[in-house]
Amino acid sequence: MLAPGLAEALDQDFIAGIEKNDVGLGALGCGGRQPLRQLGRVGAQVSRVDGDGKSAAHARHRGGQLDERRQFTEAVLSGVSAGVLGLDNEGRIGHANRAALNFFGRQEAGMVGRDIMTAVPEMAAVISDARAHPERRAQAQITILREGQDRTLNLRITREVTDAGQGGFVLTFDDITELVRAQRTSAWADVARRIAHEIKNPLTPIQLSAERLRRKYGKEVKSDPEVFEQCTATIIRQVNDIGRMVDEFSSFARMPVAAMKPVDLGEILRQSVFLQRVGNPDIEYRLEMPDDAVMAECDGRLVSQALTNVLKNAAEAIRGNDDDEDGGSAVTADGAKIGRIHVRLTADDATAQIAAIDSGCGLPETDRTRLTEPYMTTRAKGTGLGLAIVNKVMEEHGGQLILEDAPRNGDWDTGARVRLVFPRRVAAESEAKEAVNGV
Ligand SMILES: Nc1ncnc2c1ncn2[C@@H]1O[C@H](COP(=O)(O)OP(=O)(O)OP(=O)(O)O)[C@@H](O)[C@H]1O
Ligand SMILES: [Mg+2]
Repeated sequence: MLAPGLAEALDQDFIAGIEKNDVGLGALGCGGRQPLRQLGRVGAQVSRVDGDGKSAAHARHRGGQLDERRQFTEAVLSGVSAGVLGLDNEGRIGHANRAALNFFGRQEAGMVGRDIMTAVPEMAAVISDARAHPERRAQAQITILREGQDRTLNLRITREVTDAGQGGFVLTFDDITELVRAQRTSAWADVARRIAHEIKNPLTPIQLSAERLRRKYGKEVKSDPEVFEQCTATIIRQVNDIGRMVDEFSSFARMPVAAMKPVDLGEILRQSVFLQRVGNPDIEYRLEMPDDAVMAECDGRLVSQALTNVLKNAAEAIRGNDDDEDGGSAVTADGAKIGRIHVRLTADDATAQIAAIDSGCGLPETDRTRLTEPYMTTRAKGTGLGLAIVNKVMEEHGGQLILEDAPRNGDWDTGARVRLVFPRRVAAESEAKEAVNGV
């Protein structure tokens, strides 16, 4: 409320104007004369009042202010890392900030004006929910397929409520794919380490006891000695198997410590493909790489382990679940190949990239990001550790594992493309050294 002294100095219209408007003095839509001029000096830039008390300059000024505010808001939104979409009451996109446009890989013209339900159908359910319950703030995690990859988004929808009723929505989202994956892996690795530790402890005494029973009492057992022998042998064998499984389990849970040095990725690739060719004579392998060595700062042993897993997966995707997945099947009678795997090494100054494209069954449609989690498998005989190991190796190298469909350009109707992207780091430096040393 206004102080009584000030109220007396202002005419009634002016007071009514103030009480109706809370957007600042410069935006007042009132018809006072004298008080307006006084207030004009106070700070609002009202310059001229027309005959009926409505100020054209004032309206322009207000428009200008709104424009400024809009520009300010847009400047702020363009700088935030979260995607922000402004929607009207009907769900049409009125504004998309830079992060949102980048995420969807679209120009502003491709987003603004479109109905969110058709532009991003994955968000439809959450938006319908927000519409049905305008009083609550809707929040959800959704998965969106983008460039062949699943991305997890944390979505929040806030409803604007105006004097005239319900306005539009403001929808903000963060891409939390990597965060979710890192959380899952670290939670899993922690549990794995503990379980492995606890399981391994009693294994050795069990095995030693069984061996002792067999050695010491084997000859004394007169009734059913075969059963005795069979049972002790089973215990020893099974305990051995558990021991190996636990070793595998805990060696995954332990972060591999990569020993980095400049290596020729081409040479590692050549060896890995050679071994696969020998093991899978019924698959056609094609290897493409530059003539010059592609040096990168890597742990050669880990890279070759990763490549073996990727190539093994490709061969298994070609064979399918029914056949002998262990490879090594003979060439078909007429020498025909059952599928193709093309491996390509490319490099630029910053990165070296290995891509393996196969003509197999293709990656599963759903949950693709989870394929790199331990024990995620669709194969009957799979353990689901292969890609988890590849992913870990790539993390150790500061690189990236990308799983996608084989490019559907006529050459590949089915199949997957798995890319390993390595940063080259000091590679350029070591190449220069080699050049100096004449290597
Ligand atoms: N080239 C590929 N084509 C089609 N699907 C693939 C390919 N590579 C991986 N996958 C899918 O990813 C899943 C996980 O692969 P991963 O290598 O981690 O485990 P796996 O091959 O099932 O078992 P293993 O531990 O024996 O490697 C596979 O079960 C398969 O569904
Ligand atoms: Mg595998």
